[in-house]
Amino acid sequence: MYVCSCFGITEKQVRAHAETGACTPRQIAGACKAGTDCGSCVRRIQAILGRGACPRRELLDQGEPAAALAADVVLPADTGLAAEAA
Ligand code: FES
Repeated sequence: MYVCSCFGITEKQVRAHAETGACTPRQIAGACKAGTDCGSCVRRIQAILGRGACPRRELLDQGEPAAALAADVVLPADTGLAAEAA
């Protein structure tokens, strides 16, 4: 089922990005652009992430430093998200 109709991103794709380290809608956007056009899918993406799609989410919720957890998450430079994450 499509989560982001603007970019044709499915729930399965969002889950796959979450499993490789994207724990926030911004990180999902960095991985596949979902949520960066009309934005109507952001709440759905948040819901998917909130249902345990991201294995690191529990560590973030326990107060682990986000920078350490995100160190191996690569954001594409052309989205401008990489500069925001720094
Ligand atoms: S539906 Fe995802 S940005 Fe529009």
